[in-house]
Amino acid sequence: MLTERRLESLLEVRGLHTYFYTYEGVVKAVNSVSFVLNRGEITGLVGESGSGKSVTAQSIVRLVKAPGKIVEGEVWLDGQDLMSCSEHEMQSVRGRMISTIFQEPRAALNPLFTVGDQIGRVIQLREGCSRKAAEGLAIEVMRAVEIADPERRAGAYPHELSGGMCQRIMVAIALSANPLLLIADEPTTGLDVTVQAQVLDLIRLRVKSAGSACLFITHDLGVVAELCERVIVMYAGRVVEQGPVAEIFSNPRHPYTQGLIASTLRVDINKPISTIPGTVPDAVLLPSGCTFHPRCPFAEELCEQEEPSMAAAGMQHRARCHIVSGRIEGEMREDAWELAVAQAGGTDSFLQSVQGDTTDPEVGIE
Ligand SMILES: Nc1ncnc2c1ncn2[C@@H]1O[C@H](COP(=O)(O)OP(=O)(O)O)[C@@H](O)[C@H]1O
Ligand code: SF4
Ligand SMILES: [Mg+2]
Repeated sequence: MLTERRLESLLEVRGLHTYFYTYEGVVKAVNSVSFVLNRGEITGLVGESGSGKSVTAQSIVRLVKAPGKIVEGEVWLDGQDLMSCSEHEMQSVRGRMISTIFQEPRAALNPLFTVGDQIGRVIQLREGCSRKAAEGLAIEVMRAVEIADPERRAGAYPHELSGGMCQRIMVAIALSANPLLLIADEPTTGLDVTVQAQVLDLIRLRVKSAGSACLFITHDLGVVAELCERVIVMYAGRVVEQGPVAEIFSNPRHPYTQGLIASTLRVDINKPISTIPGTVPDAVLLPSGCTFHPRCPFAEELCEQEEPSMAAAGMQHRARCHIVSGRIEGEMREDAWELAVAQAGGTDSFLQSVQGDTTDPEVGIE
């Protein structure tokens, strides 16, 4: 059984801690995060802005910038311990085994080479083919991500292209590398809906056909429902719920996940769209006990005093909440978020009361 599981899993992250040492104090951006990515599967990583998604991705490839530091934890890729690799070995891992699409495509592209060259180099490395053949394949890949007139665009430098175009080039480079693991951090930001759908199709096709794994970071739960097999929900640097997408969407057990799902579902046009009250806490001064307690409609005294640990909530489904572990009685009401809004006298006053001067109801619901 153990052997079977080892074969299935491609990436194992165990007890990862990444902290930022700032003048204001220590920011525990990633705080004891553990998860497994299976081959042939796409796993969504969701959570509000500032919850630690990007720093988790940067930690896996060991590209955390100062004043950040990975202070503890293990990352195993295909049986290889990435934390004990030298920087030279990591460069090879990044080039050959892991592809990343980060949030700022322009910063990730090399300003000194044309985009066609940059895609071509990755293909040459993978195929061991001639430069000329790689150039031809690069044009094909550019066409696949819907870049019009790819022959001409291949000769352009990153600064000559729009942000959306650079994003597509990044996707093209990441997919050309044929990686074992693809890490995509909001890869479709800045792309129009049609291109978004095409990029998602390309990622799905690549992961399924190559038996690789993908960590897909997004704020769009609709994309997670459509694209991913599994989902990991982060809050204030911690994983608060994880499991199969079908199970978590039909039976979310952590109140934060329930709020996230409720805030994106408009069940009835006459009902207000629920929004989770408050914002992600100050990363330096995290609340005591369960860090979600100031925003949780189910919080009891124990929640302020003691941090919950992960508890089983179903088959391969775990959540970090005292209700799930049975420590408190909390009766999960499906309509708890709607009630909270109604009690405040409607969506507008609810948002005003909990979000201070935030005027955009979507802010903070990344
Ligand atoms: N360079 C940095 N210096 C200090 N804190 C940082 C830095 N980068 C990220 N953080 C902090 O780490 C936390 C997680 O950030 P991030 O992973 O970017 O969030 P997400 O991707 O979920 O929006 C945030 O509280 C953020 O303020
Ligand atoms: S532990 Fe308490 S405060 Fe935290 S999510 Fe569960 S019920 Fe809410
Ligand atoms: Mg991010």
